[in-house]
Amino acid sequence: MATHKLFLLPGDGIGPEVMAEVVKVADWLGKEGIASFETETGLVGGAAYDAHGVAISESDMALAMACDAVIFGAVGGPKWDSVPYDARPEAGLLRLRKDLKLFANLRPAICYPALADASSLKREIVEGLDIMIVRELTGGVYFGEPKEIIDLGNGQKRGIDTQVYDTYEIERIGRVAFELARKRGNKVTSSEKRNVMKSGVLWHEVISALHKREYADVQLDHMLADALGMQLVRWPKQFDVIVTDNLFGDMLSDVASMLTGSLGMLPSASLGEADPLTGKRKAMYEPVHGSAPDIAGKGLANPIAMIGSLGMALRYSFGLGEAADMVDAAIAHVLESGMRTADIKGDATSTVSTVEMGDAIVAALGKTKV
Ligand code: IPM
Ligand code: MG
Repeated sequence: MATHKLFLLPGDGIGPEVMAEVVKVADWLGKEGIASFETETGLVGGAAYDAHGVAISESDMALAMACDAVIFGAVGGPKWDSVPYDARPEAGLLRLRKDLKLFANLRPAICYPALADASSLKREIVEGLDIMIVRELTGGVYFGEPKEIIDLGNGQKRGIDTQVYDTYEIERIGRVAFELARKRGNKVTSSEKRNVMKSGVLWHEVISALHKREYADVQLDHMLADALGMQLVRWPKQFDVIVTDNLFGDMLSDVASMLTGSLGMLPSASLGEADPLTGKRKAMYEPVHGSAPDIAGKGLANPIAMIGSLGMALRYSFGLGEAADMVDAAIAHVLESGMRTADIKGDATSTVSTVEMGDAIVAALGKTKV
């Protein structure tokens, strides 16, 4: 069996707590002979800043480049509010995405039946929901230049960010969305703001042309990003795959997370281009939630998004779809048993800690093993 190299970056806040639970799952898979992992651990975000004065060290970047998959916790917290902009915790995450060229961010939003009541929306609106947000991750306003604050010399300053997309960037993320749709509900909704943004006009044009040329068998709809935000809370089940840019994808995936009950439920995969020789992609897996400094260290964090992210690594990096199904089934099983962390409490009478939830998922893996 191939041994997969995982590089663990727990980061800040609740990152280390949820990472500890994912390690239990990885260990279990190893012990059962389902997957074989070799792990190394590094520092990112505020933790790296405290140790090295940067958001990620060069040696940890080298390890991230060399591994089969980076498993990332979360970064940030008020403790680092006043560190220099280039060394702020988020810079570590953005550098990983950029340097590893992880342009495709897959954010599935699935509402487990057992959690339909934990959503702030009515059960019939979210029950059975299964959408995939495909967010462009290495372009747009996150990275466009110029990006600066300039002094206008008249007592005024000007803050500038640049939204910029080239044809190839739109085309390659479009391709990821269409390919995924073919394996799911065969429908893609592409989203931008072409009514006010030139990058949106180009986005619409490139996605439409790609569709016509290579993916005419897939249903394609276009929806302005503001309208899509509204439709996500009105009737989310109309969507299958949503493809959008970096900033809209950031916002819309947070909205989508609440459909599933909690931000603590959403895993994500960030993938690079497949190597033409080996077929392998650089990849990073991380929960969509942040470092939640307010609950850090209290055992309150929900480890499901983090564990689900390892599940996505099994599926998208290691070709272990069955093992990924097992992880998903174990999560569903634990939720059906009524076990809840605080964020998904709903009407439950009691809640469990991060560690108890992790242990329960490992125990459920034993039961759901096929
Ligand atoms: C996310 C996060 C990040 C982003 C932050 C932490 C930089 O919100 O992964 O969605 O904006 O991309
Ligand atoms: Mg976000």
